[in-house]
Amino acid sequence: MARVVRSTAFRRTCTRRGAVAVAAAAWAAFAASSRSPGDRAFFSIFGGAMKPAGKQIPPAEVVGAALRSADGPNKQSTAWEVLDTTRLPNQTALVTGANSGIGYYTALALAYGGAQVLLACRDPKRGEAAKKAMEEALQDAGRPAPTIEVVELDLSSLSSVRMFTTTFLKEGRPLHLLCLNAGVMAIPKFETSRDGFEMQFATNHLGHFALTRALATRIAESAPARVVTLASEAHRAPNQAYDLSDWPPSAAKYGDWRAYQQSKLANILFAREFSKRVALIPGGDLVSSNAVHPGVISTPLGRQQVLKGKVLLGVFQDRDEVQGAATSVFCLTAPQVEGVTGEYFRDCAATEPSEFATDAEAGRRLWELSEELLVKEGFFVRDAGEEG
Ligand SMILES: NC(=O)c1ccc[n+]([C@@H]2O[C@H](COP(=O)([O-])OP(=O)(O)OC[C@H]3O[C@@H](n4cnc5c(N)ncnc54)[C@H](OP(=O)(O)O)[C@@H]3O)[C@@H](O)[C@H]2O)c1
Repeated sequence: MARVVRSTAFRRTCTRRGAVAVAAAAWAAFAASSRSPGDRAFFSIFGGAMKPAGKQIPPAEVVGAALRSADGPNKQSTAWEVLDTTRLPNQTALVTGANSGIGYYTALALAYGGAQVLLACRDPKRGEAAKKAMEEALQDAGRPAPTIEVVELDLSSLSSVRMFTTTFLKEGRPLHLLCLNAGVMAIPKFETSRDGFEMQFATNHLGHFALTRALATRIAESAPARVVTLASEAHRAPNQAYDLSDWPPSAAKYGDWRAYQQSKLANILFAREFSKRVALIPGGDLVSSNAVHPGVISTPLGRQQVLKGKVLLGVFQDRDEVQGAATSVFCLTAPQVEGVTGEYFRDCAATEPSEFATDAEAGRRLWELSEELLVKEGFFVRDAGEEG
């Protein structure tokens, strides 16, 4: 698939101008129907981004009718609205960090659409609890439960990534939708992963890189397929290049917030570089790879420290978790995004990332150095003549 330049029509579809129309139409659809208290809770989020949506799911037809009369998804849209009436039969999806926050609602929306969803979690107990809650919500919404599976995957451990990918590939399963969502933020002190890498680098970038690198051929074989990487607007601040002179990131240059920003910049560089490389694999021209900023949502992401975590997300929160999952779900499922690859999305619209995130040479170097680390760690052996 060639990298698609955003068309005027695409921009128009993704514009924010539909916000008022969506809200009005949704309210009209709601008023015209006699829905359960659960639906009432859901529609209350049209009235304010901060109100919790609960885990109830409204019938897609109600939301779909509202959306069809509007311009398209926007900042206030929830994952369900974005999904609209899209159905995902025979689609296999994998969401990392699916037991909490944005990943939870992304996985739930995909299951609601009918996909078989793998919840990739580092703690299987937390994964099983999320699965149970999702199944209850789906049942409540009157949707036959698709298969939801919990798989153990600790992204900060290359052996855990290897164990998962080996099993997955051996089972011969397809993979159509991959959401690289898991993350940690602003760990106060320099901490290392089991493999000895700085923890935010290891979890947010290297683990996802290893996972995608190992599954790339299977994703291409399953195409059409989509890969979405959770980045952040934090990649812009401070506006500086990815620091490849400090590779892998060392204790000497460690700053809690800086390490997070750099890892999120790496996420965009990775998503763009993958969009080019996957196109070279047979079938890969029908695989898209985009990065997203989900908004600012008060999730447990800030658990590592009070001030730069909980307080920051709480103060700047601009939407709830269901809305936070919308841009991921949009990039994974929306017909408007078909053929769009190598882009950065926020509020369900393609937007320009920082100049450093579009540095193709930095993306290429990051990819190569990450591969070298994996080879060094024995994660994979490069075949003679193999291209990255
Ligand atoms: N919230 C925001 O405002 C915001 C803004 C911009 C970008 N983002 C990005 O959105 C993504 C999701 O964040 P969130 O806000 O939903 O946070 P969250 O609720 O804390 O979810 C993070 C998920 O990642 C998992 N995780 C952490 N370390 C892991 C590891 N080593 N292996 C596997 N899974 C691991 C967590 O598992 P446990 O529950 O076991 O810890 C959890 O399921 C992150 O990539 C974040 O950078 C968030």
